[in-house]
Amino acid sequence: MPLVPLQRILGKARSDGYAVGYFEAWDACSLEAVLTAAEAESAPVVLGFGAMMVDGKWLESGGIEVLGAIGRSYAASSSVDVSLLFNETHTLDQARRGIDAGFNAVMIDTEHWCPEDAIVAVKELCRVAHQSGVAVEAELGSLAEATAAGVDDSHASATDPDQAALFVAETGVDCLAVSVGNVHILMDHQASIDMERLGSIHQRVDVPLVIHGGTSFPPAAVAPAIALGVAKFNVGTVLKHAFWDGLESATRAAGPRPDVHRLLGSHKDSDVTVLAQELMAAKVRSLIRQYGGSGRQGTATEPAAG
Ligand code: 13P
Repeated sequence: MPLVPLQRILGKARSDGYAVGYFEAWDACSLEAVLTAAEAESAPVVLGFGAMMVDGKWLESGGIEVLGAIGRSYAASSSVDVSLLFNETHTLDQARRGIDAGFNAVMIDTEHWCPEDAIVAVKELCRVAHQSGVAVEAELGSLAEATAAGVDDSHASATDPDQAALFVAETGVDCLAVSVGNVHILMDHQASIDMERLGSIHQRVDVPLVIHGGTSFPPAAVAPAIALGVAKFNVGTVLKHAFWDGLESATRAAGPRPDVHRLLGSHKDSDVTVLAQELMAAKVRSLIRQYGGSGRQGTATEPAAG
């Protein structure tokens, strides 16, 4: 089916009291696992790819267009509502190319920019994107990030509720990612969420709120966060780990002198990527349920026109 505007997917989620997941993929195989999971749960989903972990040269030399083509192709055959997000681009130009490549939602990562530059860039992105019916997400504040040495919060800054209201009004963004204690790429620990701050942002900002760092977001905080305006969780690290675990056990089980044509690229059950996809899809399904998104396909009413 055609791509569904992100505003509509998030609007339905907000009015019906659940959140959608953006489950970050990195290639066709991982994207297929996300879509399979969403279809099995009959849940609307945000498919897509992120620029943050990807080699900039690869992206510049046609990678963005390849990712857009993969995403559009899978979305076209989807039985559930799909938005296609190009997440956390490094530059305005990459986001513009994402629009040309067929993504119907883009996000520019201005976490470490000075606020004035961020406003100018996001406003310009909104101008260009909205002309093409593409949604824009932006983030105000910066998340702490897990490193090999532990959580690095030296560049972290919490979202200020008043600044958030100004930022949304000045830029025209369609949804806002917030920093309320959530942490990027943190495995095996849970972040500590500042619900009071989230509530203050919710009081001042009327666009749907987004939580990045879904891997370490505490399950017990999901429902309260949804009640305070969160309509999308972004998840990455835990999904790559699930995929990796599947690959590792399948390749280990193959033993020496493997039959590579059976194990790689066959798309049969013997393919090592099939087990990896299954473990990833199982994780996506459990998160969809956690976010209350299961069975929501087609159940919400369209927002009234006008
Ligand atoms: P995690 O890798 O911590 O789940 O965060 C992913 C993310 O925020 C992508 O935007």
